[in-house]
Amino acid sequence: MIVGEEGILIKKLYLVMMKNHCGNRKQCLTLLKHHAVIVNGQLITDCNYIVKTDDIIEVNGKRIDSQPFVYYMMNKPAGYICANYDEKYPCVVDLIDREDCYCLGRLDRDTTGLLLLTNDASLSKQLLLPQHHVTKTYFVECMKPLDQSFVEIFKDGILIDKDIKCLPAQLEIIDHYHCYVTISEGKYHQIKKMFLSCHNQVVSLKRIEFANILLDSKLSLGDYRPLTKDEFQKLKEFMFYR
Ligand code: URA
Repeated sequence: MIVGEEGILIKKLYLVMMKNHCGNRKQCLTLLKHHAVIVNGQLITDCNYIVKTDDIIEVNGKRIDSQPFVYYMMNKPAGYICANYDEKYPCVVDLIDREDCYCLGRLDRDTTGLLLLTNDASLSKQLLLPQHHVTKTYFVECMKPLDQSFVEIFKDGILIDKDIKCLPAQLEIIDHYHCYVTISEGKYHQIKKMFLSCHNQVVSLKRIEFANILLDSKLSLGDYRPLTKDEFQKLKEFMFYR
């Protein structure tokens, strides 16, 4: 279920046109140059024009969507996988009522919590570059009592899969069986493997933060909502082109 609505406007006009299938970059720039684009009744030829939420855009006399890009936060339920199609399990995109969205990064099927979804391929490409070190924080429940020594081990960069060294991670113990772990990379099953390397085991995993964006505690499992402008601003801090 979608909760609330708030538009985020960040895109140049030609990108909005491209998303509306007006053509590739070159074709859209040509349309602008050839006086084919009207915004709010005014002829626009500037390809760098930034589209505003309530702009009325017409290309060759036909209205196009001024808000073709969406950025959602979901509270992922367990049992769903982060893919667009699977033969065996339901996918998180089945919970969203549009077909062009995909997950920004992956969570395991049994992991719950903060998941971002978008239809903006350029954003996801940039955000998921390994050199961006997007931070992610998880609330972890473990099988065996936590040991204070884990804090240093995680901070030094723990070895997983025998010889793969992780970047330094922050572990904050809450009580014997619960902690927060913050990592800045996204290796396959990373948190589970980090605990296995310490002869412990993850019982449950919930992501509570991604790129400094906090999971909205008002979102029930399976619900999603658009990112606010402030949240979107945080995402952009991890991007090359702002
Ligand atoms: N680390 C894991 O082990 N699983 C996840 O879903 C995310 C991080």
